[in-house]
Amino acid sequence: MVLNCARLVNKVAVVTGGARGIGAAAAKLFAQNGAHVVVADILDDLGAALAESIGGRYVHCDVSKEADVESAVELALGWKGQLDIMFNNAGIAGPSGSITSLDMGEVQQLLAVNIFGNLHGIKYAAAAMIKTRRSGSIICTSSSAAIMGGLGGHAYTLSKESINGLVRSAACELGVHGIRVNSISPHGVPTEILVTAYRECLGEDIQAEDVGKIVGERGSLLRGRCGTVKDVAEAALYLASEDSGFITAHNLVLDGGYTSATSSMSFIYQSTNRQ
Ligand SMILES: NC(=O)c1ccc[n+]([C@@H]2O[C@H](COP(=O)([O-])OP(=O)(O)OC[C@H]3O[C@@H](n4cnc5c(N)ncnc54)[C@H](O)[C@@H]3O)[C@@H](O)[C@H]2O)c1
Repeated sequence: MVLNCARLVNKVAVVTGGARGIGAAAAKLFAQNGAHVVVADILDDLGAALAESIGGRYVHCDVSKEADVESAVELALGWKGQLDIMFNNAGIAGPSGSITSLDMGEVQQLLAVNIFGNLHGIKYAAAAMIKTRRSGSIICTSSSAAIMGGLGGHAYTLSKESINGLVRSAACELGVHGIRVNSISPHGVPTEILVTAYRECLGEDIQAEDVGKIVGERGSLLRGRCGTVKDVAEAALYLASEDSGFITAHNLVLDGGYTSATSSMSFIYQSTNRQ
C-alpha cells in the first residue's frame, strides 16, 4: 500500500542483506513509501518470499563477489531503467576471540563481505546513477563498533571503521553528480547476527527477547530500550529520501546515546530528580 505521505514514490532501490533483519525491515518500509525494491541476498527462499510480498524483485547476490553486485544493479536497471537508492547493508560478524589467535582465513572472508561488499555496491550503484544522469542516495551499514572498542570482534571492528572512511571518500567524488553517500551505525539490535554472537559468547540458547533486554539495560541511555529494526529502517528511509537532501558523508549513529555518553552518574541524577 502506498501512503499519501510516501517519500520514495517511483524510486528504485537495491537492498543487500535484504532477506531478513534490518535489510528486510528497510525493504518493506521503502516499498510502503512507494519504492520499487530489489532484494539482494544469499538466503534465496526468504529473500524471494519477501520480494514477492512487497511487489519487488529478488536476486541471489553474494556481495563479496563483484559480478553478483553488478548483476543486482543491472536487474534494477533492466526492470525500471534507473537506480536511485543503494542500501549496502549485508554484513557478517566473523571471528570472535583473541587477536593473538585470529584465523586469518576467516578475517579475509569477513573483509570480503563487509568491506568489499560495500565497495562493490558503491562502485556499481554510482556508475548506474551517473549513467542515467540521476541523483541518488547510497547508504552503507556500519556499526557502533566503528565508534567504540569492544562492541564487536577485531575484524568486524576493522571492517566497520573502514566503511565509514570509504563512505566519506566516495561522497567527495560523487557529490558533483548529486549522489549522496552516508552510513548508518546501529547498535544492539536483536537480529540474527547479534543473537548468534550472544549465544556463542554466553554458551546459552539465549533468545532475541533476552538479548534485547540485556542491551536495553546496559547498552543504551534510554531506560530499558534497545534498538529495533524499525529504528534502523526509518533512518535508512530518511537518508534514502529527499528529506535528507543536504546530508552526505555523514555517519548516522543509532545507539540510544551509548557511544557518546555514560549513564554512570545516573544515581546522582535519580536522587536530583526525586527532590
Ligand atoms: N543487529 C545489530 O545489532 C547490528 C549493529 C550494528 C551493525 N549491524 C549491521 O547491520 C547489517 C544487517 O545485519 P542484521 O542485524 O540485520 O543481521 P542479520 O544477520 O539478520 O542480517 C544480515 C543479512 O545479510 C545477509 N548476508 C550475509 N552475508 C551476505 C553476503 N555475502 N551477501 C549478501 N548478503 C549477505 C544475510 O543473509 C542476512 O540477510 C549488517 O551489516 C550488520 O553488521 C547490525
